[in-house]
Amino acid sequence: MTKKSGADKKRKPIGIFDSGLGGLSIAQAVRNILPNEDVVYLADIEYSPYGPKSKTTIAERSERILNFLIEQGCKLIVVACNTATVNSISQLRAACTIPIVGVEPGVKPAALHSESGVIGVLATEQTLKSDSFQRLKASYGNEVRIEERACPDFVTIVESLEHEEQTAAIAAERYIRPLLDEGCDKIILGCTHFSFLTPAIKQVVEGKADVIDTADAVGKEVQRRLSYHELCSDNNTGGSTTFWTTGDITHTSKSISKLWRQEVSVFQATP
Ligand code: DGL
Repeated sequence: MTKKSGADKKRKPIGIFDSGLGGLSIAQAVRNILPNEDVVYLADIEYSPYGPKSKTTIAERSERILNFLIEQGCKLIVVACNTATVNSISQLRAACTIPIVGVEPGVKPAALHSESGVIGVLATEQTLKSDSFQRLKASYGNEVRIEERACPDFVTIVESLEHEEQTAAIAAERYIRPLLDEGCDKIILGCTHFSFLTPAIKQVVEGKADVIDTADAVGKEVQRRLSYHELCSDNNTGGSTTFWTTGDITHTSKSISKLWRQEVSVFQATP
């Protein structure tokens, strides 16, 4: 009996959420590292973007979504959003007993490996303002100079699927060039949406700086936490991914299908 419930627990899905499409970059990394796990992804499109919203609103949305994912039976939750992580993760961890993995700007690896002593952080307004980011910055502020930039347009560009268009190239030039001029040799993608802009960003960078994306590190952390809690799936036939949105399902299906590079159906959620 105990053995059976252990196996049942292992077969439960991993829940992943973001304000919108950005967290798909994390979901993709989780899928690549853990192909046998089932994944439930929620895009909170109705309330997107989180970047300009208040800490209270972001924390309230995160808690509602956490409860929704718990109702779906998730065994571990990934907050695939820097803005939601830095503004709500302690509250989410206090509200439940299942493991929660968050995502934060990769200041540590960038600061440790910077040779120029100047690093750039691209994130949302509310991530940069948060106490959590300010603490992170203070921990490395003696070692490197940290140039931070809020890039709300990057979020809009990804949500409107213009990340491979000229609009993305123009925005990348506008945000990245000043960081290169400041001497940054590491550029941190501190928002999960920005992963989809990596090609546009790299085109401006031309090898003069490393672009730091923590998606794979988050995927590995999910793997480590599952294994620590003995929650790794014992299924070896490949996991499924189920998508939910708080926005329009037709529109979100089209958007997710494009970024996921596969036709997907999306269900309506109302947390
Ligand atoms: N993808 C999000 C992040 O990592 C939030 C973008 C937004 O909704 O403003 O911060």
